Amino acid sequence: MTRNKATAATAGTKNKADIIAVIGASGTGKSSYIKGELLKRYLRLLVWSPLEKTDDYAGFCKGVVVTGKISELVAQVKSGARAIVYVPTGSDAEVKAQFDRFCRIVWELNGATVLVEELSRVTMASWSPQAWKNLSTAGRHQGLTIIGTSQRPATIDKDFLGNCTEIRCYRVNYDNDAKVMADSLGLQTQYEPGTGGKSVAVKPLQQIRTLPNFHFIHKNPDLSTRRGVNKSL
Ligand SMILES: Nc1ncnc2c1ncn2[C@@H]1O[C@H](COP(=O)(O)OP(=O)(O)OP(=O)(O)O)[C@@H](O)[C@H]1O
Ligand SMILES: [Mg+2]
Repeated sequence: MTRNKATAATAGTKNKADIIAVIGASGTGKSSYIKGELLKRYLRLLVWSPLEKTDDYAGFCKGVVVTGKISELVAQVKSGARAIVYVPTGSDAEVKAQFDRFCRIVWELNGATVLVEELSRVTMASWSPQAWKNLSTAGRHQGLTIIGTSQRPATIDKDFLGNCTEIRCYRVNYDNDAKVMADSLGLQTQYEPGTGGKSVAVKPLQQIRTLPNFHFIHKNPDLSTRRGVNKSL
C-alpha cells in the first residue's frame, strides 16, 4: 500500500489514512520496522517518544524535540515544524495528562502521521483518555495516519486493536498477550509436517509465542494475513 500522503493531500484525492498497530516484546523489531518502512514518507510527523534516549526519533526524522511541556508543543505545531518529537516526563499522572493534551493537539492536524510509542504506559485494557479514543476510533476521518506500539497488548485499550486497518505482530512472551493477538489477527491452527508423515497442529498462541526476533505476522487491510521477516538493516 502506498503511504504517499503528501501527494494524496495536495492532490485532494481520497483519504488514505490508516491506523496501524505494531506489537511485540522488547527487541523484536517494532521500532526498526516503523523507521524502515512506515515513516519513509509523511506530510507532517508527531511522535510520542517515552524512550527517546534510545529510540532517537529526533535524529531519525531531524525533528524538533519537546520535553514535557505541552505549551511548547503547541508553539512548535503553530510554527509549522514538520517533525516534532514529544518526550513525556513526570509522574504517571502527569504523563497521562500530557498524553491527553498530545492527542487533542494531534486531532487538529489533518494529514499528519502520529506515532505513539508504548501505549501500555498511557492506556489500559479497560481505560484510555477520551482524546485517544477519539483518535483511534475516528482519526482516519480526520485524515490522520496513526501508529501505536506495545510490548504488552493485553494491557492496552481494546478499541485500538479493534479499529486498526493493519496489525504487525512480532513475538510476545506471555499467553495473555498472545491470546489477544491471535484474536486480533484472526489466526487459525496450522498443520506442519511432523515425523513419520504425521502432521503436527500448531495453535495460534504457539505461532505467535515462537516467532524468532524480527519475524512477524501481519494482518492486511483486507483481513488476510502474511508472514515475513524485517528487512535487514
Ligand atoms: N532485521 C534485523 N536484523 C538484525 N537486527 C535487527 C533487525 N531489525 C532490528 N534489529 C535490531 O534489533 C534491535 C531491536 O530492534 P527494535 O529497536 O526495532 O526493537 P523494538 O521491538 O522496538 O524493542 P522495544 O520494545 O524495546 O522498543 C535494534 O538494535 C535493531 O537495530
Ligand atoms: Mg522500540
